[in-house]
Amino acid sequence: MTEPDIKKGLAGVVVDYTAVSKVNPETNSLLYRGYPVQELAATQPFEAVAYLLWHGELPTDVQLAQLRATERAYRHLPADVRAAIDLVPIDAHPMDEVRTAVSLIGARDLAGTGSVLEVSGSVDENLARSIRLFAVLPAIVAYGQRRRRGQQPVAPRDDLDYAANFLWMTFDEQADDVVVDAFNRSMILYAEHSFNASTFTARVVTSTLSDLYSAVVAAIGALKGPLHGGANEAVLHIFDEIGTAENVGPWLDQALAEKRKIMGFGHRVYKKGDSRVPTMKTALDTLVEHYGRRDVAALYETLESEFVSRKGIYPNLDYPSGPAYNLMGFDTLTFTPLFVAARVTGWTAHIMEQLASNALIRPLSEYNGPDERHIEGYVADA
Ligand code: SDX
Repeated sequence: MTEPDIKKGLAGVVVDYTAVSKVNPETNSLLYRGYPVQELAATQPFEAVAYLLWHGELPTDVQLAQLRATERAYRHLPADVRAAIDLVPIDAHPMDEVRTAVSLIGARDLAGTGSVLEVSGSVDENLARSIRLFAVLPAIVAYGQRRRRGQQPVAPRDDLDYAANFLWMTFDEQADDVVVDAFNRSMILYAEHSFNASTFTARVVTSTLSDLYSAVVAAIGALKGPLHGGANEAVLHIFDEIGTAENVGPWLDQALAEKRKIMGFGHRVYKKGDSRVPTMKTALDTLVEHYGRRDVAALYETLESEFVSRKGIYPNLDYPSGPAYNLMGFDTLTFTPLFVAARVTGWTAHIMEQLASNALIRPLSEYNGPDERHIEGYVADA
């Protein structure tokens, strides 16, 4: 009997087309609807990139103004969503708060939509749902951090665009332009990355014609894992363990002896480096200068050069973004919720693409359990 060609983890398996983004490990490049992500990160506000992912084109000034007006209308934290977050244990992982909040928003929005046959929604309904989540997630993430610090929520400011307002609601102070720019770049870099585990999760849920909110909640669960979104949080734990650049060598000796995965390094698709890292590292460098933290840069660069030279495994986006978010003032536990606020744009673009040309996602498996056997004494009905 020929052995089946099992592709564990679907490694290297192409399962569908997508026009949303192109990840090219050969050229180490990433295109969002044809635009290099480096160009978008250097020139666009995150709102314009969200529009690009959803619509396939960058917005005109009028379209951007319309999106910004809708985003401002939904950036407040609804009282019932805040009450739901307050029911989540304070020491639960923040991704459980985010998932709880999105679940309630979805349940409330879909209430009364009648039969389950209608929940998948029209293009316009799903676009509205996408913008609503895009707009409210900053308030959810900011409130989560402030709740854990014992601080009251901060109301959004209509005079600030998305990135500046996100920082305002989190820190109750207006961030410097260099910090706003670095944060805006990080959100663009985290927005989309083809069929990664959480995006594919969203597409699987969507393929059953379930609703957008259910697909996003499932994607949040996938992103929580340390092999995926949880890695940027884990990078800071590693930095805390190592302490200073001088300790990198001994720390790495022990970590590799224990066969530990060094979070922030490696990638299923990119094998010679993650195309997003140089742009995020530039943002990190500006923050290192802005805050006078050369010690962070020394630790970052020493660990990178040591690990790459020993294992030939390169940093992924989580490696520069972890220390960057730390310098901006975000708590380590807030890092993966930040990833959700950015990636919700990619997830929802893929959800709408899946619906536009759907096929139920249901792969096969090869049985390797016990041979057929029967219950003792069982006699089939005549
Ligand atoms: C993201 O898919 C996406 O696009 C994801 C993402 C996105 O934008 O959506 O880019 C975001 O998830 C980035 C990845 C974040 N995760 C981490 O940083 C966790 C650490 N990384 C590893 O767990 C690993 O690199 C993966 C899971 C990311 C990818 O692993 P692969 O491609 O499945 O490869 P593998 O785990 O089979 O590793 C191959 C070898 C193994 O050695 P052997 O068992 O063959 O001896 O390389 C080793 C691994 O042990 N290896 C590592 C390592 N990554 C791979 N060893 C130590 N530390 C690492 N980080």
